[in-house]
Amino acid sequence: MTERTYYILTFGCQMNKLDSELAAGQLEMAGYSLAESAESADLVLLNTCSVRAKAQVKATSLLCNFTRDVAGKSGRRIVGIMGCVAQQMQEKLTEAPYLAEFVLGSRAVSRLAEVLERLAAGERGILALEEDCASWDYEAETVSRLNKRSAYVAISRGCSNFCTYCIVPYVRGPIQHRRPESIVDEVRSLTDSGYIDICLLGQNVNAYDYDGCSFVNLLERVASIGGIRRLRFITTHPKDLCIDTVRMMVNPPFAPYISLPLQSGSDRILGLMNRGYTRGQYMEKVSWLKEYLPGAFISTDIMVGFPGETEADFEDTLEIVRKAQFDNIYSFVYSTRPRTKAASLMSDVPDEVIKARFKRLLALQRQNHIDRLKRFVGETVEVLIDGVSKKDKGAPCGRTPQHVIVNLPHDKCDVGELVEVTITGAGIRTLLGKVTKRIL
Ligand code: SAH
Ligand code: SF4
Ligand code: F3S
Repeated sequence: MTERTYYILTFGCQMNKLDSELAAGQLEMAGYSLAESAESADLVLLNTCSVRAKAQVKATSLLCNFTRDVAGKSGRRIVGIMGCVAQQMQEKLTEAPYLAEFVLGSRAVSRLAEVLERLAAGERGILALEEDCASWDYEAETVSRLNKRSAYVAISRGCSNFCTYCIVPYVRGPIQHRRPESIVDEVRSLTDSGYIDICLLGQNVNAYDYDGCSFVNLLERVASIGGIRRLRFITTHPKDLCIDTVRMMVNPPFAPYISLPLQSGSDRILGLMNRGYTRGQYMEKVSWLKEYLPGAFISTDIMVGFPGETEADFEDTLEIVRKAQFDNIYSFVYSTRPRTKAASLMSDVPDEVIKARFKRLLALQRQNHIDRLKRFVGETVEVLIDGVSKKDKGAPCGRTPQHVIVNLPHDKCDVGELVEVTITGAGIRTLLGKVTKRIL
Protein backbone atom coordinates (compact mmCIF):
# COMPACT_ATOMS: atom_id res chain seq x y z
CA MET A 1 0.00 0.00 0.00
CA THR A 2 1.34 3.44 -0.85
CA GLU A 3 1.94 5.82 2.02
CA ARG A 4 -0.96 8.21 2.60
CA THR A 5 -0.36 11.69 3.94
CA TYR A 6 -2.43 14.25 5.84
CA TYR A 7 -2.38 17.93 6.66
CA ILE A 8 -4.51 19.80 9.21
CA LEU A 9 -5.20 23.53 9.01
CA THR A 10 -6.18 24.84 12.44
CA PHE A 11 -8.08 28.04 13.25
CA GLY A 12 -9.60 29.37 16.47
CA CYS A 13 -8.66 28.83 20.09
CA GLN A 14 -6.22 26.56 21.93
CA MET A 15 -8.94 23.92 22.32
CA ASN A 16 -8.92 23.58 18.54
CA LYS A 17 -5.13 23.26 18.55
CA LEU A 18 -5.41 20.37 20.99
CA ASP A 19 -8.23 18.78 18.97
CA SER A 20 -5.99 18.92 15.89
CA GLU A 21 -3.31 17.03 17.82
CA LEU A 22 -5.93 14.46 18.82
CA ALA A 23 -7.01 14.15 15.18
CA ALA A 24 -3.37 13.82 14.08
CA GLY A 25 -2.92 11.00 16.59
CA GLN A 26 -5.76 9.03 15.03
CA LEU A 27 -4.56 9.69 11.48
CA GLU A 28 -1.10 8.41 12.39
CA MET A 29 -2.54 5.32 14.05
CA ALA A 30 -4.42 4.66 10.81
CA GLY A 31 -1.15 4.78 8.87
CA TYR A 32 -1.15 8.38 7.63
CA SER A 33 1.97 10.52 7.88
CA LEU A 34 2.24 14.31 8.03
CA ALA A 35 2.57 15.99 4.60
CA GLU A 36 4.79 19.01 3.95
CA SER A 37 1.85 21.17 2.90
CA ALA A 38 -1.92 21.05 2.51
CA GLU A 39 -1.51 21.14 -1.27
CA SER A 40 0.60 17.97 -1.33
CA ALA A 41 -1.52 15.98 1.17
CA ASP A 42 -3.88 13.10 0.33
CA LEU A 43 -6.20 14.12 3.14
CA VAL A 44 -6.80 17.73 4.18
CA LEU A 45 -8.65 18.47 7.39
CA LEU A 46 -9.87 21.99 8.22
CA ASN A 47 -10.32 22.58 11.94
CA THR A 48 -12.57 25.60 12.11
CA CYS A 49 -13.78 28.42 14.38
CA SER A 50 -17.13 30.20 14.36
CA VAL A 51 -16.75 32.70 17.18
CA ARG A 52 -17.23 35.66 14.82
CA ALA A 53 -18.92 35.77 11.40
CA LYS A 54 -15.58 36.46 9.68
CA ALA A 55 -14.06 33.23 11.02
CA GLN A 56 -17.00 31.23 9.68
CA VAL A 57 -16.74 32.84 6.23
CA LYS A 58 -13.02 32.10 6.17
CA ALA A 59 -13.63 28.44 7.01
CA THR A 60 -16.32 27.86 4.40
CA SER A 61 -14.50 29.69 1.61
CA LEU A 62 -11.32 27.76 2.33
CA LEU A 63 -13.33 24.53 2.23
CA CYS A 64 -14.76 25.50 -1.18
CA ASN A 65 -11.27 26.30 -2.48
CA PHE A 66 -9.93 22.93 -1.42
CA THR A 67 -12.86 20.87 -2.70
CA ARG A 68 -12.92 22.74 -6.06
CA ASP A 69 -9.23 22.14 -6.38
CA VAL A 70 -9.76 18.40 -5.88
CA ALA A 71 -12.35 18.27 -8.66
CA GLY A 72 -9.78 19.75 -11.05
CA LYS A 73 -7.09 17.23 -10.05
CA SER A 74 -7.04 13.45 -10.03
CA GLY A 75 -9.83 13.36 -7.46
CA ARG A 76 -7.62 11.42 -5.09
CA ARG A 77 -7.48 13.97 -2.32
CA ILE A 78 -10.03 13.87 0.48
CA VAL A 79 -11.16 17.07 2.21
CA GLY A 80 -12.84 17.00 5.60
CA ILE A 81 -13.97 19.61 8.10
CA MET A 82 -14.04 19.57 11.90
CA GLY A 83 -14.36 22.10 14.72
CA CYS A 84 -17.04 24.65 15.49
CA VAL A 85 -18.18 25.45 11.92
CA ALA A 86 -18.52 21.69 11.27
CA GLN A 87 -20.74 21.34 14.35
CA GLN A 88 -22.72 24.45 13.42
CA MET A 89 -23.44 23.73 9.74
CA GLN A 90 -23.42 19.91 9.83
CA GLU A 91 -24.82 18.18 6.70
CA LYS A 92 -24.94 21.48 4.75
CA LEU A 93 -21.17 21.18 4.44
CA THR A 94 -21.45 17.94 2.45
CA GLU A 95 -23.70 19.70 -0.08
CA ALA A 96 -22.88 22.20 -2.87
CA PRO A 97 -21.02 24.51 -2.90
CA TYR A 98 -18.97 23.11 0.03
CA LEU A 99 -18.77 19.38 -0.78
CA ALA A 100 -16.78 18.16 2.22
CA GLU A 101 -16.19 14.42 2.12
CA PHE A 102 -16.67 14.21 5.86
CA VAL A 103 -17.87 16.42 8.72
CA LEU A 104 -16.54 15.69 12.19
CA GLY A 105 -18.41 17.36 15.06
CA SER A 106 -16.63 19.29 17.80
CA ARG A 107 -17.57 16.56 20.30
CA ALA A 108 -16.76 13.69 17.97
CA VAL A 109 -13.01 14.01 17.36
CA SER A 110 -12.52 10.50 18.73
CA ARG A 111 -14.65 9.18 15.86
CA LEU A 112 -12.09 10.12 13.21
CA ALA A 113 -10.69 6.56 13.18
CA GLU A 114 -14.15 5.23 12.30
CA VAL A 115 -14.55 7.92 9.61
CA LEU A 116 -11.21 6.93 8.06
CA GLU A 117 -12.37 3.29 7.82
CA ARG A 118 -15.58 4.34 6.12
CA LEU A 119 -13.64 6.55 3.69
CA ALA A 120 -11.37 3.61 2.89
CA ALA A 121 -14.49 1.56 2.11
CA GLY A 122 -15.49 4.20 -0.44
CA GLU A 123 -18.12 6.05 1.55
CA ARG A 124 -18.37 9.84 1.07
CA GLY A 125 -20.41 12.65 2.63
CA ILE A 126 -19.92 11.14 6.09
CA LEU A 127 -21.42 12.89 9.13
CA ALA A 128 -19.95 12.06 12.54
CA LEU A 129 -21.38 14.68 14.85
CA GLU A 130 -21.65 13.29 18.37
CA GLU A 131 -19.82 10.76 20.46
CA ASP A 132 -22.06 8.06 21.85
CA CYS A 133 -20.51 8.05 25.33
CA ALA A 134 -22.05 9.89 28.28
CA SER A 135 -18.83 11.14 29.86
CA TRP A 136 -15.77 12.59 28.24
CA ASP A 137 -12.10 11.75 28.44
CA TYR A 138 -9.12 11.06 26.22
CA GLU A 139 -5.97 9.02 26.52
CA ALA A 140 -2.58 10.71 26.51
CA GLU A 141 -1.33 8.17 23.95
CA THR A 142 -3.84 9.32 21.35
CA VAL A 143 -2.37 12.83 21.05
CA SER A 144 0.29 13.49 18.42
CA ARG A 145 2.09 16.59 19.67
CA LEU A 146 4.35 18.67 17.45
CA ASN A 147 6.01 20.54 20.30
CA LYS A 148 8.12 18.40 22.64
CA ARG A 149 8.30 20.81 25.60
CA SER A 150 4.93 22.64 25.68
CA ALA A 151 1.59 20.86 25.90
CA TYR A 152 -2.08 21.71 26.16
CA VAL A 153 -4.03 19.47 28.52
CA ALA A 154 -7.84 19.77 28.47
CA ILE A 155 -9.54 19.60 31.85
CA SER A 156 -13.04 20.28 30.58
CA ARG A 157 -14.76 20.91 27.31
CA GLY A 158 -17.85 22.86 26.29
CA CYS A 159 -19.41 25.79 28.13
CA SER A 160 -22.70 26.26 29.97
CA ASN A 161 -22.39 29.98 30.61
CA PHE A 162 -24.42 31.26 27.67
CA CYS A 163 -22.96 34.74 27.49
CA THR A 164 -25.62 36.26 25.25
CA TYR A 165 -23.26 37.10 22.35
CA CYS A 166 -21.43 33.77 22.25
CA ILE A 167 -21.90 30.80 19.94
CA VAL A 168 -19.54 28.49 21.87
CA PRO A 169 -22.20 26.78 24.09
CA TYR A 170 -24.15 25.90 20.91
CA VAL A 171 -21.21 24.53 18.94
CA ARG A 172 -19.30 22.90 21.81
CA GLY A 173 -22.18 21.80 24.01
CA PRO A 174 -22.52 22.01 27.80
CA ILE A 175 -19.45 21.86 30.03
CA GLN A 176 -18.13 18.35 30.74
CA HIS A 177 -15.32 17.84 33.23
CA ARG A 178 -12.51 15.35 32.70
CA ARG A 179 -11.64 12.88 35.43
CA PRO A 180 -8.90 14.35 37.69
CA GLU A 181 -6.95 11.07 37.64
CA SER A 182 -6.81 11.22 33.83
CA ILE A 183 -5.54 14.79 33.91
CA VAL A 184 -2.88 14.01 36.53
CA ASP A 185 -1.80 10.86 34.66
CA GLU A 186 -1.47 12.78 31.40
CA VAL A 187 0.56 15.58 32.98
CA ARG A 188 2.80 13.04 34.70
CA SER A 189 3.46 11.17 31.48
CA LEU A 190 4.19 14.48 29.73
CA THR A 191 6.71 15.62 32.34
CA ASP A 192 8.27 12.13 32.32
CA SER A 193 8.93 12.57 28.62
CA GLY A 194 10.46 16.03 28.96
CA TYR A 195 7.56 18.50 28.84
CA ILE A 196 8.17 21.54 31.04
CA ASP A 197 5.36 23.90 29.98
CA ILE A 198 1.82 22.73 30.73
CA CYS A 199 -1.30 24.72 29.88
CA LEU A 200 -4.60 23.47 31.26
CA LEU A 201 -7.50 24.17 28.96
CA GLY A 202 -11.21 24.84 29.33
CA GLN A 203 -13.60 27.40 27.79
CA ASN A 204 -14.20 28.39 31.38
CA VAL A 205 -11.25 26.59 32.92
CA ASN A 206 -11.85 27.62 36.54
CA ALA A 207 -15.42 26.28 36.56
CA TYR A 208 -13.82 22.83 36.86
CA ASP A 209 -15.59 20.55 39.31
CA TYR A 210 -15.47 16.77 39.18
CA ASP A 211 -17.22 14.92 41.97
CA GLY A 212 -16.05 17.33 44.64
CA CYS A 213 -12.61 17.90 43.11
CA SER A 214 -12.63 21.68 42.62
CA PHE A 215 -10.39 23.71 40.33
CA VAL A 216 -8.14 24.61 43.26
CA ASN A 217 -7.95 20.92 44.32
CA LEU A 218 -6.97 20.01 40.76
CA LEU A 219 -4.33 22.76 40.58
CA GLU A 220 -2.85 21.48 43.83
CA ARG A 221 -2.58 17.97 42.42
CA VAL A 222 -1.10 19.06 39.10
CA ALA A 223 1.34 21.53 40.70
CA SER A 224 2.77 18.79 42.90
CA ILE A 225 3.91 16.78 39.88
CA GLY A 226 7.66 17.26 39.52
CA GLY A 227 9.29 18.62 36.38
CA ILE A 228 6.90 21.44 35.42
CA ARG A 229 8.60 24.82 34.98
CA ARG A 230 5.57 26.73 33.74
CA LEU A 231 2.00 25.90 34.63
CA ARG A 232 -0.75 28.00 33.06
CA PHE A 233 -4.50 27.71 32.60
CA ILE A 234 -6.88 29.40 30.14
CA THR A 235 -9.46 30.92 29.99
CA THR A 236 -10.28 32.11 33.49
CA HIS A 237 -13.81 33.43 33.94
CA PRO A 238 -13.86 36.44 36.30
CA LYS A 239 -17.11 35.33 37.98
CA ASP A 240 -15.49 32.04 39.07
CA LEU A 241 -12.05 33.35 40.06
CA CYS A 242 -11.57 32.82 43.79
CA ILE A 243 -8.86 34.15 46.08
CA ASP A 244 -7.55 30.61 46.74
CA THR A 245 -6.57 30.27 43.09
CA VAL A 246 -4.73 33.58 43.18
CA ARG A 247 -2.92 32.60 46.39
CA MET A 248 -1.91 29.29 44.88
CA MET A 249 -0.41 31.02 41.85
CA VAL A 250 2.17 32.78 44.04
CA ASN A 251 4.36 29.67 44.14
CA PRO A 252 6.14 27.75 41.38
CA PRO A 253 5.46 26.07 39.02
CA PHE A 254 2.72 28.63 38.24
CA ALA A 255 3.65 31.03 35.47
CA PRO A 256 3.03 34.71 36.26
CA TYR A 257 0.21 35.00 33.74
CA ILE A 258 -3.57 35.08 33.72
CA SER A 259 -6.15 35.66 31.04
CA LEU A 260 -9.19 37.38 32.54
CA PRO A 261 -11.66 38.55 29.87
CA LEU A 262 -13.47 41.74 30.87
CA GLN A 263 -15.66 42.09 27.73
CA SER A 264 -17.15 45.38 28.93
CA GLY A 265 -16.61 47.84 31.77
CA SER A 266 -20.27 48.88 31.92
CA ASP A 267 -22.50 47.18 34.47
CA ARG A 268 -25.51 47.61 32.18
CA ILE A 269 -23.75 45.88 29.24
CA LEU A 270 -22.25 43.18 31.49
CA GLY A 271 -25.81 42.42 32.63
CA LEU A 272 -27.09 42.25 29.04
CA MET A 273 -24.15 39.97 28.22
CA ASN A 274 -25.02 37.64 31.13
CA ARG A 275 -21.44 37.72 32.34
CA GLY A 276 -22.28 37.21 36.00
CA TYR A 277 -20.09 39.98 37.50
CA THR A 278 -20.08 43.75 37.90
CA ARG A 279 -17.22 46.14 37.14
CA GLY A 280 -16.66 46.47 40.89
CA GLN A 281 -16.35 42.72 41.32
CA TYR A 282 -14.01 42.51 38.35
CA MET A 283 -11.77 45.25 39.77
CA GLU A 284 -11.70 43.50 43.14
CA LYS A 285 -10.26 40.40 41.45
CA VAL A 286 -7.73 42.54 39.59
CA SER A 287 -6.66 43.99 42.94
CA TRP A 288 -6.09 40.48 44.33
CA LEU A 289 -3.86 39.73 41.35
CA LYS A 290 -1.90 42.97 41.79
CA GLU A 291 -1.48 42.31 45.50
CA TYR A 292 -0.46 38.65 45.40
CA LEU A 293 1.23 38.50 41.98
CA PRO A 294 2.76 41.95 41.43
CA GLY A 295 4.88 40.95 38.42
CA ALA A 296 2.25 38.82 36.71
CA PHE A 297 0.79 39.68 33.32
CA ILE A 298 -2.94 40.18 33.08
CA SER A 299 -4.38 39.69 29.64
CA THR A 300 -7.98 40.55 28.79
CA ASP A 301 -10.56 40.43 25.99
CA ILE A 302 -12.78 43.42 25.25
CA MET A 303 -15.72 43.66 22.90
CA VAL A 304 -16.84 46.89 21.25
CA GLY A 305 -20.31 47.57 19.84
CA PHE A 306 -22.50 45.15 21.78
CA PRO A 307 -26.16 45.99 20.89
CA GLY A 308 -27.23 49.14 22.69
CA GLU A 309 -23.72 50.14 23.81
CA THR A 310 -23.85 53.89 24.52
CA GLU A 311 -21.03 56.40 24.68
CA ALA A 312 -21.29 56.27 28.49
CA ASP A 313 -21.01 52.45 28.46
CA PHE A 314 -17.93 52.66 26.29
CA GLU A 315 -16.40 55.32 28.54
CA ASP A 316 -16.91 52.90 31.45
CA THR A 317 -14.87 50.32 29.55
CA LEU A 318 -12.07 52.80 28.87
CA GLU A 319 -12.04 53.75 32.52
CA ILE A 320 -11.48 50.12 33.57
CA VAL A 321 -8.75 49.78 30.95
CA ARG A 322 -6.98 52.79 32.48
CA LYS A 323 -7.45 51.57 36.05
CA ALA A 324 -6.63 47.90 35.58
CA GLN A 325 -3.47 48.61 33.55
CA PHE A 326 -3.79 45.42 31.53
CA ASP A 327 -0.59 44.02 30.09
CA ASN A 328 -2.30 42.73 26.99
CA ILE A 329 -5.72 43.36 25.44
CA TYR A 330 -7.39 41.44 22.67
CA SER A 331 -10.15 43.63 21.31
CA PHE A 332 -13.00 42.55 19.06
CA VAL A 333 -15.89 44.20 17.28
CA TYR A 334 -19.18 42.56 18.24
CA SER A 335 -20.37 40.11 15.62
CA THR A 336 -23.94 38.76 15.56
CA ARG A 337 -23.98 34.98 15.90
CA PRO A 338 -26.87 32.67 15.03
CA ARG A 339 -28.97 31.19 17.88
CA THR A 340 -27.50 33.53 20.51
CA LYS A 341 -29.77 35.68 22.65
CA ALA A 342 -28.04 38.90 21.59
CA ALA A 343 -28.89 38.14 17.95
CA SER A 344 -32.48 39.15 18.73
CA LEU A 345 -31.43 42.46 20.29
CA MET A 346 -31.57 45.55 18.09
CA SER A 347 -28.03 46.24 16.96
CA ASP A 348 -28.46 50.00 16.89
CA VAL A 349 -24.86 51.21 17.17
CA PRO A 350 -23.88 52.59 13.74
CA ASP A 351 -20.81 51.02 12.11
CA GLU A 352 -18.91 54.35 12.04
CA VAL A 353 -19.45 54.76 15.78
CA ILE A 354 -18.20 51.22 16.47
CA LYS A 355 -15.15 51.81 14.27
CA ALA A 356 -14.34 55.07 16.03
CA ARG A 357 -14.69 53.45 19.49
CA PHE A 358 -12.54 50.52 18.41
CA LYS A 359 -9.83 52.96 17.27
CA ARG A 360 -9.92 54.79 20.61
CA LEU A 361 -9.55 51.51 22.47
CA LEU A 362 -6.65 50.49 20.21
CA ALA A 363 -4.87 53.80 20.81
CA LEU A 364 -5.22 53.40 24.58
CA GLN A 365 -4.06 49.80 24.58
CA ARG A 366 -1.16 50.63 22.28
CA GLN A 367 0.20 53.01 24.88
CA ASN A 368 -0.45 50.46 27.64
CA HIS A 369 1.38 47.74 25.74
CA ILE A 370 4.39 49.95 25.06
CA ASP A 371 4.63 51.03 28.71
CA ARG A 372 4.30 47.45 29.98
CA LEU A 373 6.96 46.01 27.65
CA LYS A 374 9.54 48.82 27.92
CA ARG A 375 10.39 47.80 31.47
CA PHE A 376 11.87 44.52 30.17
CA VAL A 377 14.63 46.24 28.18
CA GLY A 378 18.04 45.45 29.67
CA GLU A 379 16.67 42.60 31.76
CA THR A 380 17.64 38.96 31.56
CA VAL A 381 14.70 36.61 31.08
CA GLU A 382 14.09 32.92 30.51
CA VAL A 383 12.63 32.21 27.06
CA LEU A 384 11.06 28.97 25.90
CA ILE A 385 11.40 28.72 22.11
CA ASP A 386 8.11 27.90 20.42
CA GLY A 387 8.58 28.68 16.74
CA VAL A 388 9.81 31.14 14.16
CA SER A 389 8.90 34.81 14.07
CA LYS A 390 6.02 35.82 11.77
CA LYS A 391 7.70 39.02 10.60
CA ASP A 392 11.30 37.90 10.52
CA LYS A 393 10.97 34.54 8.75
CA GLY A 394 13.47 32.00 10.00
CA ALA A 395 14.37 33.85 13.21
CA PRO A 396 13.47 31.91 16.34
CA CYS A 397 10.94 33.27 18.80
CA GLY A 398 9.73 32.18 22.19
CA ARG A 399 7.89 33.21 25.33
CA THR A 400 8.89 34.69 28.66
CA PRO A 401 7.26 33.25 31.80
CA GLN A 402 4.69 36.10 31.45
CA HIS A 403 3.90 34.68 28.00
CA VAL A 404 5.32 37.69 26.14
CA ILE A 405 6.74 36.93 22.69
CA VAL A 406 10.49 37.48 22.28
CA ASN A 407 12.04 37.52 18.80
CA LEU A 408 15.67 36.45 18.53
CA PRO A 409 16.86 37.60 15.09
CA HIS A 410 20.56 36.96 15.77
CA ASP A 411 20.36 33.46 17.20
CA LYS A 412 19.74 29.91 16.11
CA CYS A 413 17.50 27.87 18.44
CA ASP A 414 15.30 24.80 18.21
CA VAL A 415 11.65 24.66 19.18
CA GLY A 416 11.45 23.51 22.80
CA GLU A 417 14.84 24.94 23.80
CA LEU A 418 14.95 26.95 27.03
CA VAL A 419 17.38 29.84 26.85
CA GLU A 420 18.45 32.86 28.86
CA VAL A 421 17.99 36.08 26.92
CA THR A 422 18.94 39.71 27.40
CA ILE A 423 16.15 41.97 26.17
CA THR A 424 17.42 44.58 23.72
CA GLY A 425 14.20 46.20 22.51
CA ALA A 426 10.43 46.42 22.97
CA GLY A 427 7.65 46.79 20.44
CA ILE A 428 3.89 46.95 20.95
CA ARG A 429 3.30 43.28 21.57
CA THR A 430 6.75 41.70 21.23
CA LEU A 431 10.24 41.97 22.66
CA LEU A 432 13.60 41.69 20.94
CA GLY A 433 16.50 39.83 22.50
CA LYS A 434 19.83 38.06 22.32
CA VAL A 435 20.59 34.63 23.78
CA THR A 436 23.17 34.73 26.59
CA LYS A 437 22.93 31.15 27.88
CA ARG A 438 21.45 27.79 26.89
CA ILE A 439 19.55 26.33 29.86
CA LEU A 440 17.85 23.17 28.56
N1 SAH B 1 -14.30 31.35 27.00
C1 SAH B 1 -13.70 32.59 26.86
C2 SAH B 1 -13.77 33.21 25.49
C3 SAH B 1 -13.98 32.42 24.27
S1 SAH B 1 -14.18 33.33 22.80
C4 SAH B 1 -14.34 33.58 27.82
O1 SAH B 1 -15.30 33.32 28.46
O2 SAH B 1 -13.87 34.69 27.87
C5 SAH B 1 -12.80 34.47 22.82
C6 SAH B 1 -13.21 35.92 22.76
O3 SAH B 1 -13.93 36.17 21.59
C7 SAH B 1 -14.16 36.33 23.87
O4 SAH B 1 -13.49 36.65 25.02
C8 SAH B 1 -14.87 37.50 23.27
O5 SAH B 1 -14.22 38.72 23.59
C9 SAH B 1 -14.79 37.26 21.79
N2 SAH B 1 -16.10 36.95 21.25
C10 SAH B 1 -16.93 35.93 21.57
N3 SAH B 1 -18.10 36.02 20.91
C11 SAH B 1 -18.01 37.12 20.13
C12 SAH B 1 -18.89 37.77 19.22
N4 SAH B 1 -20.11 37.31 18.98
N5 SAH B 1 -18.45 38.90 18.61
C13 SAH B 1 -17.23 39.40 18.86
N6 SAH B 1 -16.36 38.85 19.70
C14 SAH B 1 -16.73 37.72 20.34
FE1 SF4 C 1 -18.59 32.03 25.39
FE2 SF4 C 1 -19.09 33.06 27.74
FE3 SF4 C 1 -18.63 30.44 27.52
FE4 SF4 C 1 -16.65 32.19 27.16
S1 SF4 C 1 -17.79 31.84 29.07
S2 SF4 C 1 -17.12 30.44 25.88
S3 SF4 C 1 -17.66 33.91 26.21
S4 SF4 C 1 -20.38 31.55 26.68
FE1 F3S D 1 -13.67 29.33 17.93
FE2 F3S D 1 -14.83 27.16 18.68
FE3 F3S D 1 -12.71 28.00 19.98
S1 F3S D 1 -15.87 28.97 18.00
S2 F3S D 1 -12.85 30.20 19.75
S3 F3S D 1 -12.77 27.34 17.89
S4 F3S D 1 -14.48 26.99 20.85
